[in-house]
Amino acid sequence: MKNRRSLVAANWKMHKTVGETVSFLEALQDRIEAYEDREVVVAPPFTALAAARQAMEGNKINLSAQNCHWEEKGAFTGEVSPAMLKDLGCDYVIVGHSERRHLFGETDEIVQKKTASVFAHGMVPILCVGEVLDEREAGRTFPVVNHQVERALDGLNCRLVPALVLAYEPVWAIGTGKTATPDQAQEVHSFLREKLSALFDKTIANKIRILYGGSVKPDNVDALMAQPDVDGLLVGGAGLEVDSFQRIVQYRFPGE
Ligand code: 13P
Repeated sequence: MKNRRSLVAANWKMHKTVGETVSFLEALQDRIEAYEDREVVVAPPFTALAAARQAMEGNKINLSAQNCHWEEKGAFTGEVSPAMLKDLGCDYVIVGHSERRHLFGETDEIVQKKTASVFAHGMVPILCVGEVLDEREAGRTFPVVNHQVERALDGLNCRLVPALVLAYEPVWAIGTGKTATPDQAQEVHSFLREKLSALFDKTIANKIRILYGGSVKPDNVDALMAQPDVDGLLVGGAGLEVDSFQRIVQYRFPGE
């Protein structure tokens, strides 16, 4: 039994209109409970956040944005600030997703500024790290994620850190149908926890939830969640359908 409350999040990326968001949430809420041992989060696109917040009843589901700027306001055409997301009732913001890093040129410095700013605005960052295929094949997974974590958390106030959510998303597993094996996920998660322990301390490291993301599906969720350092999941494609996301939320430990 893990002592961290798990977190299962659906990152919808650039999918779902307002109407589709509301239908999804209404259906999902009918099918799940307010669990004590697990937290359920959805991350709709910016345009559907307000409607999602309104459609959420009780405490069954929490809300995340997928990205934000780091400044509170200013001349940044097309950007959305953390203050605006807080105002909409967001609990979390995904920061440093590999699609932001690789398709939109987000640097480690930008990821660091966003992480600090999300915390400063009273929300929790879901900070994503992960290696590309070439890096894994060259045996560089640990140094790559080590560097990403170190840079993103640079200067962060220790008091806030235990709330952090870290997501290990190997880039080669995102949207490819190739999932990391439970052992591969555990190996990196355990490395990340050691790293957090070195950066802060063991007590803090043991509080931080580390999610796995990359082709999580109903048929691999139980084996991934059985790993001691896998504290939850960041789900892309399988989080778009109520049936598959419901099954992922309802993961079971072996023997249950
Ligand atoms: P897939 O589950 O579609 O591989 O996406 C994972 C992801 O990027 C979640 O943030």
